[in-house]
Amino acid sequence: MSINTPALERKSRNLIVTGGAGFIGANFVHHWCGKYPGDRVVVLDALTYAGNRATIAPLEGKANLRFVHGDICDRPLIDGLLKEENIDLIVHFAAESHVDRSILGPGAFVQTNVVGTFTLLEAFRQHWNEKGQPDSFLFHHVSTDEVYGSLGPEDPAFTETTPYQPNSPYSASKAGSDHLVRAYYHTYGMPTLMTNCSNNYGPYHFPEKLIPLMCINILLGKPLPVYGDGQNVRDWLYVGDHCSAIDAVIHGSKPGETYNVGGNNEVKNIDLVHKLCELMDELAPNLPVRPSKQLITFVKDRPGHDRRYAIDATKLKTDLGWTPAQTVETGLRQTVEWYLANQDWWKPLLSAEYQDYYQKVYATC
Ligand code: NAD
Ligand code: TYD
Repeated sequence: MSINTPALERKSRNLIVTGGAGFIGANFVHHWCGKYPGDRVVVLDALTYAGNRATIAPLEGKANLRFVHGDICDRPLIDGLLKEENIDLIVHFAAESHVDRSILGPGAFVQTNVVGTFTLLEAFRQHWNEKGQPDSFLFHHVSTDEVYGSLGPEDPAFTETTPYQPNSPYSASKAGSDHLVRAYYHTYGMPTLMTNCSNNYGPYHFPEKLIPLMCINILLGKPLPVYGDGQNVRDWLYVGDHCSAIDAVIHGSKPGETYNVGGNNEVKNIDLVHKLCELMDELAPNLPVRPSKQLITFVKDRPGHDRRYAIDATKLKTDLGWTPAQTVETGLRQTVEWYLANQDWWKPLLSAEYQDYYQKVYATC
């Protein structure tokens, strides 16, 4: 089915979205429930510091959405859900996702990203076997471009055949999960798909990540910590475009494939922070410090900081016709507007735990 097939022609699905209370997972749940209202969506989320049930609360009243507070490492729980809900699709977002936290404490990353993914794969394999190995079943694994390592300024962008060279405990644990997913397709023939996406931004992004952190610190008049020389490059993609890409892959790809997802929006960190300052100066009425670029503070670099990521998404465009709807200009403006209009969403997240984390990462900078 191509991405343009009307939703009416498709067979409805029963899916588990792991990590559906996190940033991208919740955006995906909103996307999917809006587009495929006939599907049964089970959100499975452990509600770690990064999970926020409020993000999907407006959908919880609907009969076809069920929220389950649980861990992807809990095999009996997953076995029960697969049976009870007659699941035919897992869209797997749940992960520990922040590089700086992986430097402070890598154990949770190995547990959730590797052991958790393995647990889901094993449970889904058993379920798929018990149902007679239907071709229509699918395990979609959401991964990152960080598994490919770091590029030099002139290197070509990552393709699906770029060798893995992860450099942080986060990317190494994601690489481990990617390899397991690949092995389940090649060894057992279990239908799997994988997407490796570049840096996302947009609504519901937890304050520790670069873009929300800068937006919030500008609003609070706090320093804007730029690691190292600020010349590191990331390839930014609006989160709604990531969701539409996963949708396109689930509906259009044959099993066993992997797709890179990116927006062709390479930006140096320091340029991105300047853009955010300009947008805030334009859109926010009562900033404590204006112009906000005065708050920019260069701090000690992140250990092992990858210099550049860039995605070549040609395969996704050629095979499935997917292209992003937002440019970095339109997406950043929408994002800044969202953080200004939704202070009730992010203010409670600046908790004591968050302040403690902030101290640990930035106190030594
Ligand atoms: P996030 O940290 O915002 O959310 C992760 C979610 O997973 C949270 O709701 C958390 O409660 C849940 N979770 C964590 N451990 C769990 C466990 N053991 N059991 C069940 N739930 C658990 O992450 P995100 O930014 O939304 O990323 C989602 C996925 O996309 C991750 O797999 C990440 O590697 C991948 N990804 C992220 C980006 C990005 O820029 N954020 C880019 C490419 C790929
Ligand atoms: P981040 O949002 O943590 O994503 P990732 O490390 O997964 O790419 O960081 C994006 C870039 O911004 C990365 O090069 C690190 C940099 N950065 C800062 O300069 N200062 C900060 O306070 C943070 C959180 C990130």
